[in-house]
Amino acid sequence: MVIQLHTHNNCIKQLSLGNFKHYMLKEIYETPFAIRKTYENICDVDFLKIFKHIKDITFIGCGTAYNSCLIGNELFKELGYNTVCELASNYQVSKEISKNHLHIIVSQSGETADCLKAAEKIKQLKGKLLIITNESKSTLTKFADYIILSKANKEMAVASTKTYCCQVFIFAYIYKVLSNKNYKLNIIDFSNKIENYIKNLNIQDIVEQINSLDKIILIGKDIDYLTLVEASLKIREIDYIFTLPIYSGELKHGTLSLIDNKSIVLALNSSNNAEKLKTAINEIESRGGKVLAFERFLQNLEVDSCYLPIYSIIPFQMISYYVAIERNLNPDMPRNLAKSVTVE
Ligand code: BG6
Repeated sequence: MVIQLHTHNNCIKQLSLGNFKHYMLKEIYETPFAIRKTYENICDVDFLKIFKHIKDITFIGCGTAYNSCLIGNELFKELGYNTVCELASNYQVSKEISKNHLHIIVSQSGETADCLKAAEKIKQLKGKLLIITNESKSTLTKFADYIILSKANKEMAVASTKTYCCQVFIFAYIYKVLSNKNYKLNIIDFSNKIENYIKNLNIQDIVEQINSLDKIILIGKDIDYLTLVEASLKIREIDYIFTLPIYSGELKHGTLSLIDNKSIVLALNSSNNAEKLKTAINEIESRGGKVLAFERFLQNLEVDSCYLPIYSIIPFQMISYYVAIERNLNPDMPRNLAKSVTVE
């Protein structure tokens, strides 16, 4: 199926499926190129100037865009900013906004009604607003003091994959620049590493073990837990399986009651510290549950820890895609969902 798109300079670009059966899988494979184009677009931005007098940062988004904000929130908190992450649909603007407060709204379409409403409130109070979006001409950009374009290009599948990775990449890159760490990237090498990583992912055994389940618990700590919030949304929205991401230390405080000898739990531990999830894994296995560990995908990556969430999420994106195939579902068009929700 070929969809022809007229770009603003009127050259016709073809969004064809090529050798892929679905856009979702094609877009996962496009992630390295999308990150490379995004880097080329932001590498000369003076982030030190944008963040110079900022003390407070509020991250705002919906769905997967909100989940990328969770990663940004964690990284910028580490830099010492007072950060908070808000769902756009629940954003309560304060009475006034200080000049040291930056709001960051992430929206791939730039048309999500909840985000537009939040942007309007922020501008009414003269708040500073940075927008991260795929669409340079979207409504949301009209409210922006600063616009960062994620060059993920058109994402046809309803569920966000390459766009999420680009959003996380942008936050991780800004984090590196602001932490004065050596942030210069050999972007060809960086994107080739991700490309090889994707090509060599072998997730079939996990797909076979989970594709008939009706509920899956996912456990992790620190930034891994935040990745699992997005991983569980992928499996929920694409495979229609109920998923629960839980901070591993919390399992014993209630959720352990769900574990029985038919339970399969997905465990993400991107650090090399095997101790991190040991207690939770013992709690699960001693009740007959089975734990599928994901660290096998993350060995010997030689990548800055701030970029690890990009590598952590891709196996889950792939798994949600192949489980949908096993369950004869359409991964591009999950039931009840839309690519951009322009109503509140
Ligand atoms: C959901 C989409 O409906 O809206 C997600 O399925 C997306 O992919 C979310 O992240 C927010 O949309 P947007 O355009 O604001 O990123």
